[in-house]
Amino acid sequence: MHVILVATQKGGAGKSTIAAHFAALAAQDGKTLLIDADPQASLTDWYTSREAETPLLAQADANSIAQVLDAAADEDVRWVIIDSAPHNAPLMASLMSRASITVIPVRPGPFDLKAAAKTLDMARALKAPMACIINAAPPPTRESEPTVVAEARVVLSSMGAPVLPGQVSQRAAFSHALITGQSVTEYDPEGRAAGEILAMWSAVAKLAESFPRKS
Ligand SMILES: Nc1ncnc2c1ncn2[C@@H]1O[C@H](COP(=O)(O)OP(=O)(O)OP(=O)(O)O)[C@@H](O)[C@H]1O
Ligand SMILES: [Mg+2]
Repeated sequence: MHVILVATQKGGAGKSTIAAHFAALAAQDGKTLLIDADPQASLTDWYTSREAETPLLAQADANSIAQVLDAAADEDVRWVIIDSAPHNAPLMASLMSRASITVIPVRPGPFDLKAAAKTLDMARALKAPMACIINAAPPPTRESEPTVVAEARVVLSSMGAPVLPGQVSQRAAFSHALITGQSVTEYDPEGRAAGEILAMWSAVAKLAESFPRKS
């Protein structure tokens, strides 16, 4: 079982958007549990309007997370994707120490980069494997990635943070898909948003598989 935590102490960076999409894509590969560990319950709302029966969904907090993960392992779940809350550092630390890898979505802007540093520090202190994902970036041109994205990579690298190649661009398809309980790969499979999130999920899955399984 691979446990992927999507976390950052910055609100609105795209944790729930990315967690929903990773879970929908992971479910094509094997039994997948999406854990909503945010009391805002954004993903539970998404799930309620979802027609597809996969992934599975559970809610968890600091008291129940161990039990939820143990039950998932007993039920031969292959992928666990956890969405977390921005303002609960103790819960985030506890989730990080249980995750195979923590994925940190970062918008390519100065305040967002600064805010990511706190989460990177937490991961480092816990010796938790992590990688940043550039989210909600201006779409790339045919020739190159946007300057703000290149700059964000430089800043994150200077903070010692691995940054996954590629980006998830700011695209309306994400809102359209999520509001109808879908992922962009279901809503518009041939679209650019689908291509980008699929490439990002493939990179994350490969990385997770290179770390020891959690059970
Ligand atoms: N790549 C994207 N393209 C377009 N809109 C996006 C993208 N990523 C996130 N959003 C939008 O930005 C807003 C915040 O995203 P989301 O709720 O996923 O962030 P979050 O980190 O989970 O927020 P919170 O900290 O409040 O839990 C949402 O309206 C979402 O639809
Ligand atoms: Mg959220």
